[in-house]
Amino acid sequence: MSVHLAHLALSHFRSHLRTRLVLDGRSVVLAGPNGSGKTNILEAVSLLSPGRGLRRAAPEEIIRRPQALGWKIRAEISTPDGPHLIETWAEPGQSRQLRIDDKAAPQIALGDVMAMLWLTPAMDRLWLESAEGRRRFLDRMVLSFRPDHAAQTLAYEKAMRERNRLLRDNVGDGGWYSALEVQMAEAGAQISANRRATLALLTQYADRDGPFPVADLTLDCSAPMQAAALAQAFAEGRRRDMAAGRSLIGPHRADLGAYWAAKGIAAAQCSTGEQKAFLISLILANARALHDLRGAAPVLLLDEVAAHLDANRRAALYDILCNLGAQAFLTGTGAEFFTEFGSRAQHFLLHERQGESCIESPAL
Ligand SMILES: Nc1ncnc2c1ncn2[C@@H]1O[C@H](COP(=O)(O)OP(=O)(O)O)[C@@H](O)[C@H]1O
Ligand SMILES: [Mg+2]
Repeated sequence: MSVHLAHLALSHFRSHLRTRLVLDGRSVVLAGPNGSGKTNILEAVSLLSPGRGLRRAAPEEIIRRPQALGWKIRAEISTPDGPHLIETWAEPGQSRQLRIDDKAAPQIALGDVMAMLWLTPAMDRLWLESAEGRRRFLDRMVLSFRPDHAAQTLAYEKAMRERNRLLRDNVGDGGWYSALEVQMAEAGAQISANRRATLALLTQYADRDGPFPVADLTLDCSAPMQAAALAQAFAEGRRRDMAAGRSLIGPHRADLGAYWAAKGIAAAQCSTGEQKAFLISLILANARALHDLRGAAPVLLLDEVAAHLDANRRAALYDILCNLGAQAFLTGTGAEFFTEFGSRAQHFLLHERQGESCIESPAL
């Protein structure tokens, strides 16, 4: 049984004044010119998973200009346990609200309703840019398997903020540090274990004979990964950290490495197209693993992915998505990128009229 969006309604959400999509579980193609509101729809769907969505936008940014009223997303999700209703919205100047099945809920509960993964053009430079982006990318994959990873990360960061304050205040008495360092070490060891388990799963589910090349992944972290050794490393590093005014080692500095064994080069040295292909094969491995572990494929948001691929690779990607039974949302500037889907997807055409996104009735 698949988990999919059956109905999506946006109100005053960026370029969408009022948009409604009635969906049947097939993949969803959104085609239209630049600025027609395709990514805005993907962003709205991404806000049905924990966190700030695929643009990491503040609720205030999303408010439709120039009216500047509150925005709202309403989605009906079909799952094997029955339908769920998710409503999330923000009024101007206020934080985002969330209700699941008519009850106020914390964001983490969204992960129980459905799993979601995405690829955006902003990730095209993932292998070239800072470790922070790769860590965030890795941690989203970890979260898809281990929702408790969010709590471990929060616990680690809270203890680290307190330790950093002591370091900046030049507190020399070790008694102030020990308890915080033990908290950091315990949460940190769990974070590293979650990340390593995720890399093992992604390796296990990689399709090395598939159409998209697979990179070998490494978790690069100079700090020990076991709690006791990590606590000791924090204690031994106090003087150095005090000079820097912050904690210089730990899982918050880890990096995701990717290496193309067949060519003997790091992902960063590969062509732009190859780097994109690594991301696609990773997302697909993640989706296959989730399909086996949760019994349903995740919802996939693939923004401007099709345009990067030649016709053969596009056809192969659509076959994989259909075989997985995943509801994938794909965007592109022209309907011609999606002909290989045929009737296996629902096709929508978008255009912009006077600053407002309009959707034409589904092309059959
Ligand atoms: N808060 C907002 N209020 C009104 N329009 C917005 C807001 N944020 C973005 N937009 C507009 O949404 C339009 C469509 O954006 P997007 O979905 O990214 O287009 P695309 O179809 O190229 O993916 C853009 O023209 C942008 O100006
Ligand atoms: Mg876009």
